[in-house]
Amino acid sequence: MEHIVNRHGLDMPKLGLGTWPMVGEDCTRAVVQALELGYRHIDTAAGYQNEDAVGAALAASPVPREQIHVTSKVWWDQLEPQALRVSCERSLRDLRSEYVDLFLIHWPTGDMDLRRSIDALVALKERGLARAIGVANFPLPLLREAVETIGAPLAAIQVEYHVTLGQSKLLDFARQHEMALTAYSPLARNRVSEIPAIVDIARKHGVLPTQIALGWLLEQANVAAVPKAGGAVNQASNLASLDVRLDDEDRAVIAALPKGERLVSPAFAPQWDEVV
Ligand SMILES: NC(=O)c1ccc[n+]([C@@H]2O[C@H](COP(=O)([O-])OP(=O)(O)OC[C@H]3O[C@@H](n4cnc5c(N)ncnc54)[C@H](OP(=O)(O)O)[C@@H]3O)[C@@H](O)[C@H]2O)c1
Repeated sequence: MEHIVNRHGLDMPKLGLGTWPMVGEDCTRAVVQALELGYRHIDTAAGYQNEDAVGAALAASPVPREQIHVTSKVWWDQLEPQALRVSCERSLRDLRSEYVDLFLIHWPTGDMDLRRSIDALVALKERGLARAIGVANFPLPLLREAVETIGAPLAAIQVEYHVTLGQSKLLDFARQHEMALTAYSPLARNRVSEIPAIVDIARKHGVLPTQIALGWLLEQANVAAVPKAGGAVNQASNLASLDVRLDDEDRAVIAALPKGERLVSPAFAPQWDEVV
């Protein structure tokens, strides 16, 4: 599978398995099965309360840990340097791992001391606890401050991105700074299966609408995607989207879809960038 590799320490397969909202044995089973099918990238977070279940899967799977990319995240109420460090150490204990491949600030907060939190992330990288570091749900001005003003060596940004939510500004920035952009909710929580234009393109290629939605993301430079699927059928189908090839006509149809349909915006979300 194609990887996104960059000078900030990242080496991440383009397609990963999202694990929210799975917990406990269901989560362990789903992750073991995904690894068996060929997934080598797992997305978890302290906030998902499933790192222990993911850790159990990593321990149970015959796939060696060093062949698997694991992303985890620190929750927004743990961004003070000491709390951030303790949160990462707890994640590692639960994941039964000596390091995570990518460690992200899960959400920014209005009152965070960005420089102090970034310094704490960088310290984790220097200690080898995180191979690469990044952020999630940062709007462009805040990402710009972290990367250009503070000089943070961020390897990735994770945000909601799918055929009906545009991220062109963040993507331009990510490419300019050699960062990956990981698309979360890449299937718009399976709403893509009900978009007539996507259904038509899928019929034309003899594949599923979900595979068109993922294929569109995965063909983009610097973009990774972490669809969540609990069962083997959907996991395998999502993996097969790596073989889907769109044509220019498909891309034009997808470009013309509405691009402002954001699904994830909790009360603590930042002010989002204008969609273009
Ligand atoms: N950083 C953040 O703030 C943030 C926020 C949200 C999500 N995430 C990450 O992104 C991951 C994915 O996002 P998401 O769960 O919100 O949305 P998603 O991946 O777009 O959609 C998941 C839903 O689609 C279904 N599905 C998956 N594959 C399918 C297929 N081939 N055909 C039909 N239905 C299919 C799943 O059901 P089944 O399980 O039954 O297959 C599930 O109900 C999360 O698990 C999490 O790791 C991160």
